[in-house]
Amino acid sequence: MDPSRISLRPFKLSDVDDFLKWASDDKVTRYLRWNSITSREEALTYIEKVAIPHPWRRSICLDDHSIGYVSIFPEAGEDRCRAHVGYALATDYWGQGIVTAALKMAVSRVFQDLPDLVRLEALVEVENKGSQRVLEKVGFSKEGLLRKYGYCKGEIRDMFAYSFLSTDKVL
Ligand SMILES: CC(C)(COP(=O)(O)OP(=O)(O)OC[C@H]1O[C@@H](n2cnc3c(N)ncnc32)[C@H](O)[C@@H]1OP(=O)(O)O)[C@@H](O)C(=O)NCCC(=O)NCCS
Repeated sequence: MDPSRISLRPFKLSDVDDFLKWASDDKVTRYLRWNSITSREEALTYIEKVAIPHPWRRSICLDDHSIGYVSIFPEAGEDRCRAHVGYALATDYWGQGIVTAALKMAVSRVFQDLPDLVRLEALVEVENKGSQRVLEKVGFSKEGLLRKYGYCKGEIRDMFAYSFLSTDKVL
């Protein structure tokens, strides 16, 4: 994959058809907090009410077409020093280094956009090896195993905690 074809930008309502292609895929949403989106109308509402107002959610684009997302969600008040990281990519593009490249771009940018931010956190299901590898390739540190930490798709899961500080270097 030519890296110059990959970019990050805010979502637009006109992404709806590209967005629905991957957001309707259970393989993409398997480890996400939200369920697959099943109609164009639901996709439009999600972009309008969730993706666009989000403090820092970017579409991963290939030739400016949405093929995934990276989101960085800061906590409120004094805890705004800390933000949670999430991402996903259309299955057709897995294994080509795209999320690693996109997350590197996001990490390099977000500390300037959200100046109170000091720490990024990612929580990953133990069996989600691809996601753990992405975080390691970007330069996140694995902090430990959080046993029975949170629900995902109705089941309480063990999760690995990863972090990246504003003083850390992108690999
Ligand atoms: C996880 C996900 C984001 C990875 O995106 P991607 O663009 O395919 O990732 P990259 O190609 O940049 O890197 C993936 C790495 O994981 C490795 N990998 C993938 N599956 C693996 C597995 N089952 N076991 C071990 N390594 C695995 C790849 O070999 C690659 O590492 P390498 O470059 O050292 O070979 C993508 O599969 C996805 O969207 N999954 C569904 C959503 C999701 O899980 N989001 C994260 C929630 S925490």
